[in-house]
Amino acid sequence: MGKGDRKKAKLEVDFDHNSAKFAADPWSKYSELHEKCPVAYTKAHGGFWVLSKYADVARVARDDITFSSVPTVVIPDNGVYNLIPLQSDPPDVQRYRAALLPFFRPKAIKALTPKIRAFTVQCINNFIGRGQCDLVTELANPVPSMTALEFIGLDPANWHDFAGPLHQMSYSADGSKAREKALEDLTNLDEVITSTIRKRRRHPKNDAITSLVNYKAGGAVFSDDELHGLVKMLLFAGLDTTMAAVSNALLYLSEHLDDRQRLIDEPKLIPTAVEELLRYEAPVHAFARNVTADTEIGGKCIRKGEKVYMSWAAANRDPDQFDSPDAVKFNRKPNPHLTFGIGAHHCLGALLARVEMRIMLEEVLQRIPDFKIDTERVRHPQTVTIIWGRTSLPATFTPSR
Ligand code: HEM
Repeated sequence: MGKGDRKKAKLEVDFDHNSAKFAADPWSKYSELHEKCPVAYTKAHGGFWVLSKYADVARVARDDITFSSVPTVVIPDNGVYNLIPLQSDPPDVQRYRAALLPFFRPKAIKALTPKIRAFTVQCINNFIGRGQCDLVTELANPVPSMTALEFIGLDPANWHDFAGPLHQMSYSADGSKAREKALEDLTNLDEVITSTIRKRRRHPKNDAITSLVNYKAGGAVFSDDELHGLVKMLLFAGLDTTMAAVSNALLYLSEHLDDRQRLIDEPKLIPTAVEELLRYEAPVHAFARNVTADTEIGGKCIRKGEKVYMSWAAANRDPDQFDSPDAVKFNRKPNPHLTFGIGAHHCLGALLARVEMRIMLEEVLQRIPDFKIDTERVRHPQTVTIIWGRTSLPATFTPSR
């Protein structure tokens, strides 16, 4: 083997994002990869490449010809399919996004904002007199779930029926009993989606599902399968992700009192703080791509048929891209984090997620400014299939009305 070949050979690392060891401290693993092996290969889950550098992650996400999102962007394949546009490639992806885009325009999100505020206020009202609560189960979970249902055209009161199975799916380990149960429960959700689409065909409403049913791309309506995939994506995309983002932000603010006080004193800073907290702990850790042609990344040969894991979370901590990446700086400028992805699949719900986060932080900091999370009782999942966030944040605060 010549010198050049050795350079191109796979450098194997011990990396399994699904393991409890990784979930206990992903950040030191990422910093080890940055230093020693930015383009690494792991044998976990049938083998895949791990990209941790900002430039490599961004390059792959932008090249949707060499790096495909079909059939799935999750490692290991979790058996959830027909998520549109997430699991599609050009030219379909643009066609699907064109149909969804109107729901995510600033005007549409502005119209939804009073509802998001009302859901947040309602959740806080439920616990503010008690002086204690769980900031995840009583706030960070219900608000994004109710918002998603309102947004799609389903009854927000039923948020629990949707959030339960979706969280179980995200937080259960591959091959576990909990994962089996989650997949079963998701089948029931599939039925709810199918029957709602049928109902809207017969009785149109002023909602996202009806708009998609009537949408014509190049003169043709979407097939039943396509419609199902689009509605399912709207439902699945905003729950775990936003809940995780808010839980991470609240935990940080409970542990960093100076930063919290700055936001209480100057609420105008909340939007930039949101950006920095999204960078610091990306709630969607990574997505994968399927390699369609032999290529090279960071001097390594990547073969057609292999998989590439693009860690948004690691890219956000890349010292070649961000000064002091392990520090939170509310005034970081610019802050081109990859938390919402980049390229053809850039998150359509980024503005919605930002508004939800801002409103929840504003209300918490105004109404229970002295909240203190019991760090001993914080819970997070034992596996990071996609999502990085806390599942329980028990907190105390001065009660009021
Ligand atoms: C903090 C919360 C959120 C985070 C971190 C997040 C992150 C992401 C990321 C990284 C992608 C890129 C996928 C890829 O490149 O393969 C994505 C796609 C997407 N997100 Fe989000 N998301 C969040 C909230 C939301 C919300 C609230 C919605 C609203 C329904 C949403 C809707 C979507 C959709 C529809 C796509 C697919 C876009 C495509 O494939 O073209 N997201 N999201």
